[in-house]
Amino acid sequence: MQVRSAVIPAAGRGTRFLPATKAVPKELFPIGDQPALQIVIDEALGAGIDHIVVVSSRDKPAIADYFERDDELIGLLDESGKTQLAERLRSIGTDWRATVVYQDEPRGLGHAVGCAREAVGDEPFAVLLPDELMGSSALLAQMNGVCASTGGSVVAAINVPRDEVGSYGVIDPAGALNADGVIAVRDLVEKPDPADAPSNFILTGRYVLTADAWTEIAALKPGRGGELQLTDALRAQAARAPFHAVVSEVSRHDTGNPLGFLTASIELGLVNPDLRQPLRAFLDQLKR
Ligand code: G1P
Repeated sequence: MQVRSAVIPAAGRGTRFLPATKAVPKELFPIGDQPALQIVIDEALGAGIDHIVVVSSRDKPAIADYFERDDELIGLLDESGKTQLAERLRSIGTDWRATVVYQDEPRGLGHAVGCAREAVGDEPFAVLLPDELMGSSALLAQMNGVCASTGGSVVAAINVPRDEVGSYGVIDPAGALNADGVIAVRDLVEKPDPADAPSNFILTGRYVLTADAWTEIAALKPGRGGELQLTDALRAQAARAPFHAVVSEVSRHDTGNPLGFLTASIELGLVNPDLRQPLRAFLDQLKR
């Protein structure tokens, strides 16, 4: 079954990016002319998803504003001949459906995703953490395929040096990687001590989950850091059902901190037809 809904948790305070996030949610910071959030949405749409469920916070009304249709602005753009731009604005929440739900207290990623349950319903769904920009839909599309063929949940993973694993969820593989980069998962652990980590494969913020994840999420007890951890819900799934990771070498940017945001802006700028040439010229000039 094609996954139809993507959950995008966007309720965090963005403390790694203060004071910039004091008034503007980091998900709306521009990368080129797009808010970072739209780039993540486009990734989901490119993988065949047509319903975006953003989990926001009442402290961040600008997120819901982004999805509000502004007929006056669209009309002005049309009248002044900026039809392409008008079309882009018109497509927001029209060509695909957007639902904004709210997480009232910061109780962890598992809790945030759980807030989307009613909006998604009882079917498989994707989760995309918007701090991570992947640059294309290929990984998510592959994960959808693996979910459909195995009937179990699928997470995205990358291989990192051992001393970095303590900041992430880590998988405990049950076998070897196949030629497509797919590996069976026996267990997962959230932010282990690197010395105890079961592998160097970390979770990178893309998930395709079967509907039974909702039950595991609803049953979560506080885990690492006292928070309701999504990883713990997945761990319960992996213990009783097929569960796989797709290990890739995607160029991943953590836009939740200033350096990652800058590198993402540059890398995506270098593939943007309007920005590529002048940006390249500027970078070359810096090297001299
Ligand atoms: C979350 C997840 C973690 C995952 C990470 C990816 O952690 O809990 O398993 O590896 O995202 O970015 P956070 O970064 O929210 O602490």
